[in-house]
Amino acid sequence: MKVDVLLGLQWGDEGKGKIVDVVTPKYDIIARFQGGPNAGHTLIFEGKKHVLHTIPSGIFRDNTINVIGNGVVIDPIIIKKEIEAIEALGIDLVPTLLISKKAHLILPTHKILDKYSEEQKGKKKIGSTLKGIGPTYMDKTGRNGLRIGDSLLPNFKEKYNTLVAKHKTILGDYDYQSILDEFEPEWFEAMTFLSKFTLIDSEHYLNNALKSGKTILAEGAQGTMLDIDFGTYPFVTSSNTTTAGTCTGLGVAPNKIGEVIGIFKAYCTRVGSGPFPTELDNKIGEEIRKIGHEYGATTGRNRRCGWIDLPALKYAIMVNGATQLSMMKADVLDTFAEIEVCTHYEINGKKIDYFPYDITNLNVKPIYKKLKGWQEDLTKLESMDDAPKAFKDYITYLEQELQTPISIVSVGPDRKQTIIR
Ligand code: GDP
Ligand code: IMO
Ligand code: MG
Repeated sequence: MKVDVLLGLQWGDEGKGKIVDVVTPKYDIIARFQGGPNAGHTLIFEGKKHVLHTIPSGIFRDNTINVIGNGVVIDPIIIKKEIEAIEALGIDLVPTLLISKKAHLILPTHKILDKYSEEQKGKKKIGSTLKGIGPTYMDKTGRNGLRIGDSLLPNFKEKYNTLVAKHKTILGDYDYQSILDEFEPEWFEAMTFLSKFTLIDSEHYLNNALKSGKTILAEGAQGTMLDIDFGTYPFVTSSNTTTAGTCTGLGVAPNKIGEVIGIFKAYCTRVGSGPFPTELDNKIGEEIRKIGHEYGATTGRNRRCGWIDLPALKYAIMVNGATQLSMMKADVLDTFAEIEVCTHYEINGKKIDYFPYDITNLNVKPIYKKLKGWQEDLTKLESMDDAPKAFKDYITYLEQELQTPISIVSVGPDRKQTIIR
């Protein structure tokens, strides 16, 4: 068996949580491979909304194991709250939620360092979610990090203290003590709470599962344009959000990767700072935000909105090896008479159709093609046979441009508002 992958092709918030939940019945195991509580994955079913940050989005389906992989960074305080919210619904997570021993821990001081780093950057700040993601991955690659498996060691507290002492030297006279005093006891309490969960060698667990014929879906967080290597650096997150991240974040070899489902919105959004060529800093952008409820699931910040960007999408499909696509939130465009699609960029008078090295320091002018809107309500659509012609044309056009089939079309936030083609 192979591991299928589902990940974002834009700047995050494409609707990964919703689609993972929709396709989970096809899989035995759902495994998150990177990111941490910077993610906010929304699931809506039976009239209720759930937002997950660290826990994989297969958690509400029966008979599914959910694995938090070694590539994920965990904030004990946040995951404890997530678990408690689900337990309050009468769901026991101990048998179905497994955590890799190698997943790194986000300490209270990592969050302080995140804030400190953003304050130092001033106007050039990344617009981080301030969940401590960057500093935690820095300690991981700097070989100083604390892993959740370390909590099984007798000298765990000593290791924690060593790392905090290092952080204090970086922070110098920055005012951190009151925050630390507030969160440290809660952090240790959360670690005790987590001790009831099984810590696993997830690379062995997942490879053995594959050998015994189990089906696995890897769930990405963030999106390709936020990837540490391929995103709009430095305005990115600190992990590989792309398919390659599945291999390092779960310990599955490249030849074990099966289908790669790339997920994108019928338009585009971005939250935080950084370049966004098709951003609509105008009434249309505001309308998309209002209709699409484009406010961050983790931070509540306004999401910046704009038209779909084909050079960026083609790039994302290429680096991920996406074999199929899932198009989200087409219903948000229901009322628009015209829909614009960015087909090329113009940089220094030159027209290009690829994603260049740097769009941060250059003036990138998007070149648009105008398409006819469908101006019909898509939210009750159950089959593509009944779809308005202009909507079918939009999909056909995108499939031709992107050279990849759109196998899933989402027309509303609910689990049921999904068409599998
Ligand atoms: P994720 O981070 O990729 O899981 O996405 P988020 O949950 O952060 O953001 C996606 C938002 O769009 C959530 O509020 C979803 O409930 C909502 N959503 C998902 N699919 C659709 C859709 O097809 N139509 C509409 N209108 N909303 C959707
Ligand atoms: P999901 O999984 C959208 C953005 C932040 C910021 C940059 C770096 O819900 O799609 P970080 O906290 O990682 O240091 O922030 O990345 N960002 C996201 N944007 N969706 C996300 O996750 C994001 N996770 C981080 O806004 O610009
Ligand atoms: Mg999100």
